[in-house]
Amino acid sequence: MTRILIVGIGALGGTIATRAINAGIPVWLATRSTESAEALRTAGLSLTGIGGSATANSLQVAAIEEYRATDKFDLILLATKAHAALEVAPLLAELLASNGTLLPIQNGSVPQILGDQLGRSIVLGGLSNLGATMVEPGVYEQRNAGHILIGELAGGVSDRVTRVTEALRGGIEIRVTPNLPGSIWAKLLLNCSVTTIGAVAGQTMRQYLTSSVGQTVFRQMYDEALSVALASGTQPQRMIVEPIPPGWQDKIVPGQEYNAWVDQIMGTYGDIKPSMLQDFERGRLTEIDFINGYVSQLGKKLGVPIAMNEATTQMVHRIEKGELRPGTERLDELALVPT
Ligand SMILES: NC(=O)c1ccc[n+]([C@@H]2O[C@H](COP(=O)([O-])OP(=O)(O)OC[C@H]3O[C@@H](n4cnc5c(N)ncnc54)[C@H](OP(=O)(O)O)[C@@H]3O)[C@@H](O)[C@H]2O)c1
Repeated sequence: MTRILIVGIGALGGTIATRAINAGIPVWLATRSTESAEALRTAGLSLTGIGGSATANSLQVAAIEEYRATDKFDLILLATKAHAALEVAPLLAELLASNGTLLPIQNGSVPQILGDQLGRSIVLGGLSNLGATMVEPGVYEQRNAGHILIGELAGGVSDRVTRVTEALRGGIEIRVTPNLPGSIWAKLLLNCSVTTIGAVAGQTMRQYLTSSVGQTVFRQMYDEALSVALASGTQPQRMIVEPIPPGWQDKIVPGQEYNAWVDQIMGTYGDIKPSMLQDFERGRLTEIDFINGYVSQLGKKLGVPIAMNEATTQMVHRIEKGELRPGTERLDELALVPT
């Protein structure tokens, strides 16, 4: 039997845990504090939304620090936010059985950072196309019929992706790719443009793209990040759209084909309230350092211009601190960034 620990029982972790338990997969759960573990033990988990309603009781749940190095797990699915993932990862490495796998599923650069820190023989790359929200601790809503995509951080295929897929079979859909770095970048390209711009503007993508300023900032942000991805040697995978927009290499004025490409992205993301905007509203730390901040950091290392991503990262930090507020004037400021 594969012993599985899910760490971070928030929107994604709670949804995955409920589906896994309902499929008869034995999972252990780890929360940040003993109080939240106790609350989940008492109330159980309940899930509604796409995929149908489900509940799970009699949970094997404890705070992460209550797990001991003797509680070995074959698979640890790390479903906290990015900052917490980096903090807790060294402890998780101690909880892994020999040949065990740590599977982080955060947006942005977390899987690569953890792979570099702990070793790629321990860390398997993952990302979530599953969308979920937490109504309150223990109560979740699944927002789409998405899946978790896994693959080796160095690319290629391996036996352990099959083992992980088998271990979670029946719970949530797991898909495997031989080009996980390309998939991580495809998602990053959309996160650092669609999501971050919407967050600083306080608008949805459909709203901010009605202005020429919004269109300019979007194109610049995306193109910079794409240049970094390509300079790093990654070939971004198709996700919703081809990652390289029409006319990109020629740097021509956006035409009909480019606009159709943007419309395709809008079809999926146009009306979604950016998750980073929700972080601002709740006074929570964002994952900007792992999204536009990562693009900037890598771009500098590779000698690729990243002025727009860097200015946006700084702007988001100022919004987090309460020095600025989200609004369309933020886009006016970004449009003035010399690129
Ligand atoms: N939700 C989605 O639809 C979605 C989709 C794609 C990707 N993602 C990515 O998936 C990650 C998780 O997102 P989410 O929406 O599930 O976040 P979330 O709802 O905030 O859940 C994170 C959970 O981790 C817990 N946590 C924090 N520190 C911990 C620690 N040291 N040990 C154990 N648990 C800890 C938090 O508990 P406290 O609340 O007590 O701090 C919270 O329950 C993010 O990187 C996000 O970008 C999410």
